[in-house]
Amino acid sequence: MKIAVLPGDGIGPEIVNEAVKVLKVLDLPFQLDEAKVGGAAFDAHGHPLPEHTLNLAMASDAVLFGSVGDWKYDKLERHLRPEQSILGLRKNMGLFANFRPAICYPQLTHASSLKPELVAGLDILIIRELTGDIYFGQPRGRREAPDGEFKGAPEAFDTMRYSKPEIERIAHVAFQAARKRNKRVTSVDKANVLETFQFWKDVVTEVHAQYPDIELDHMYVDNAAMQLVKAPKRFDVVVTGNMFGDILSDEASMLTGSIGMLPSASLNAKGQGLYEPSHGSAPDIAGKGVANPLATILSAAMMLRFSLNQEEAAARIERAVQAVLEQGLRTPDIHSEGTQKVGTVEMGEAVVAA
Ligand code: NAI
Ligand code: MG
Repeated sequence: MKIAVLPGDGIGPEIVNEAVKVLKVLDLPFQLDEAKVGGAAFDAHGHPLPEHTLNLAMASDAVLFGSVGDWKYDKLERHLRPEQSILGLRKNMGLFANFRPAICYPQLTHASSLKPELVAGLDILIIRELTGDIYFGQPRGRREAPDGEFKGAPEAFDTMRYSKPEIERIAHVAFQAARKRNKRVTSVDKANVLETFQFWKDVVTEVHAQYPDIELDHMYVDNAAMQLVKAPKRFDVVVTGNMFGDILSDEASMLTGSIGMLPSASLNAKGQGLYEPSHGSAPDIAGKGVANPLATILSAAMMLRFSLNQEEAAARIERAVQAVLEQGLRTPDIHSEGTQKVGTVEMGEAVVAA
């Protein structure tokens, strides 16, 4: 099992270090190969995604990614910025399916921004399409408005676009994920206004015919945003496009207490995946030894489950995380009265011990 380890910038190396300790204690035949990415790679090699880093990722069964980015790179040209490395990995590896579970652990119901009774037992899975939609559609750019009331004025435009195979493959991913859970999928669209998302709805409905055991409902994105904060437990698997998924998954993350708790997986058609915490490089706390490593440790568990076929080991990690929360250990982002404040390394080592 070949794993590429890409720690990146900011808190990335600190949190990935703890996840690697957890992987090592499992005593499975892993080959871990580390490479630089993001600003760390720019400093060492002049590019945020050097060829050897990309080749290592492509040749691995899975990638464990920390985070990239720092204010000190803000003045670089766009293609040299650290964030381009994660976009380059997604594009080159064809990572079209982004899994973002939002689970509220029983020990953290009071850390949520919602009332405890609304989030107690929350366990939803947002599946975001990651390589299409308005983020990549052409044409795009700036020009003089060719017509309309503001003809001749400067304007900017992007193109929202989805092909049928792109929608079909993410729909299959969602229905198959639902089979392993509670057999319910909510497809989120804006079919009332956007042709792209009427098409999305039609194609998802067509694919659904192959999954008679799964219940499917459709919801407009504005209502979905409202339901997520009103009654989040009504959802189980949510599938949606790139932009709606970007926004809804960040919204859902806050229900669980801290972004430092949230893992993610991005998969391609070959079952290869990139696993990373949902948060960024947190430059405000980098180097202080206080970052929460649990999102990265839980990402490693997702990696074992989805790309390496090690369900039992994945479940062991998740139980160990629950156990350290049960012991009352908390990094500052999830700390509350009556619990014990610990740093990144203490938290990682407690998971190893558990
Ligand atoms: P961020 O997620 O890095 O930080 C937001 C807030 O959450 C900060 O207050 C931070 O201290 C806190 N936080 C994040 N992770 C934490 C953890 N594990 N434990 C405790 N607290 C944590 O987002 P921000 O500040 O918008 O971006 C910082 C940099 O990260 C930027 O350069 C941005 O482009 C980059 N970024 C990279 C991503 C990636 O590598 N995939 C994703 C999002 C942002
Ligand atoms: Mg986002």
